[in-house]
Amino acid sequence: MASIGRQRLAEIFIAGLSGIRPRIPVHPDELEQKSRARLPRQAFDNIAGGAGTEQTLKSNLHAFRQWHIVPRILRDVSQRDTSIELLGVRYPFPFLLAPIGALELAHPEADRAVARAAAREGIPVIFSSQASYPIEACVAEMGEQPRWFQLYWSQSDELVRSFIQRAERSGCQAIVVTLDTHLPGWRTRDLAHAYFPFLRGIGIAQYVSDPVFRRLMEEASDAGEPLKPPRITPTTLRNIWKLFRNYPAPWHRKLRTGAPLKAVRTFIRIFSRPSLQWEDLAFLRTHTRLPILLKGVLDPEDARKAVEYGVQGIIVSNHGGRQIDGAIPSLEALPAIVQAVGNHIPVLLDSGVRTGTDVFKALALGASAVCIGRPYVYGLALGGTRGVQEVIQNIKAEFDLTMGLAGCRTVAEITPDRLVRLS
Ligand code: FNR
Repeated sequence: MASIGRQRLAEIFIAGLSGIRPRIPVHPDELEQKSRARLPRQAFDNIAGGAGTEQTLKSNLHAFRQWHIVPRILRDVSQRDTSIELLGVRYPFPFLLAPIGALELAHPEADRAVARAAAREGIPVIFSSQASYPIEACVAEMGEQPRWFQLYWSQSDELVRSFIQRAERSGCQAIVVTLDTHLPGWRTRDLAHAYFPFLRGIGIAQYVSDPVFRRLMEEASDAGEPLKPPRITPTTLRNIWKLFRNYPAPWHRKLRTGAPLKAVRTFIRIFSRPSLQWEDLAFLRTHTRLPILLKGVLDPEDARKAVEYGVQGIIVSNHGGRQIDGAIPSLEALPAIVQAVGNHIPVLLDSGVRTGTDVFKALALGASAVCIGRPYVYGLALGGTRGVQEVIQNIKAEFDLTMGLAGCRTVAEITPDRLVRLS
């Protein structure tokens, strides 16, 4: 296999001869700082922020820095194979794009730009339930390239079924059920700005494009007011105007029906189901033949139960530190979970993966693959499709080079003895 790492280096350094430097910063901190400068403050803080004092947000990153790579030498690494097999499918690299909602905060093309980038790079993307474009519009950009769907389990089983059916019809290869967001996190930056994107109709495109949801909207109008109306100020009017402007329907219809307001009310009413229990998973199983992965697993006992309840994979994740401030960093939770699960099902990981070496470390600690979150959103903010592609290319390249430099020819050779912990 050609060296992706060397190709990327050559591309950058040869462009440098013409005075061209990478537009998308290569260093993850600079990537974040540059998007901070580019985006409106509320949008950036919503993306970058975490829960509470952001202890977990920081410790996710710190956990990766505690592990150090111990390279081996003289092992002929001239040919390297970075591919993995996951749930019966071969993927060229051991990472996917994590589901991220409300991507229009970063770029108007949002999920569509991400879909295009992922397809061009051959990296699977996990479409969020909270996407800014319906899944059908996103997959139209992708040809046959791999995609999964992330489900937030709402109050309505009928809506859950409809989302799954749409994911299947859209060619998704797996369903990821996110289980750490059944209640909202205490996100201090959003609270400081008094900014909750969904109340403004941002990130609810999967819902308003869904026939079941639209029916629920009509029923909701008879079901009383779940939300206290805001005080009317010029800002309220501006926000209502934006909500109406963005709602996908002809003006005369949305003004007549008030659909944008109904959509937000209905979404808030049905979004999550904190009463979910293990037994409820049977419902999903009866409605899809796709592999089901549980996202948000941090306890080895829950990982064992996931195997017992017959799911096909888990994602060790604390939602990027956005839910419980002080939750265990994903990387810290990983080894015990890998041990608990054995070889029964794949264990993926996200939260804190910023670089190709982070991917390497997670694999060495037993992850089957990882999901990249915020870095690609920053790439999106800075350069749309091209920006996401560059972030992916950099992670691919650094991973490939790290593998070779550490003396690994295949992903299977990335074993725990390639790491040492120095805390
Ligand atoms: C998320 N995440 C997320 N997860 C999910 O299952 N559905 C979603 O809609 C979202 N939305 C979302 C929005 C934003 C702005 C962020 C930052 C995260 C969590 C995401 O899938 C992943 O778990 C984290 O992004 C991983 O943390 P890092 O690596 O981004 O810090």
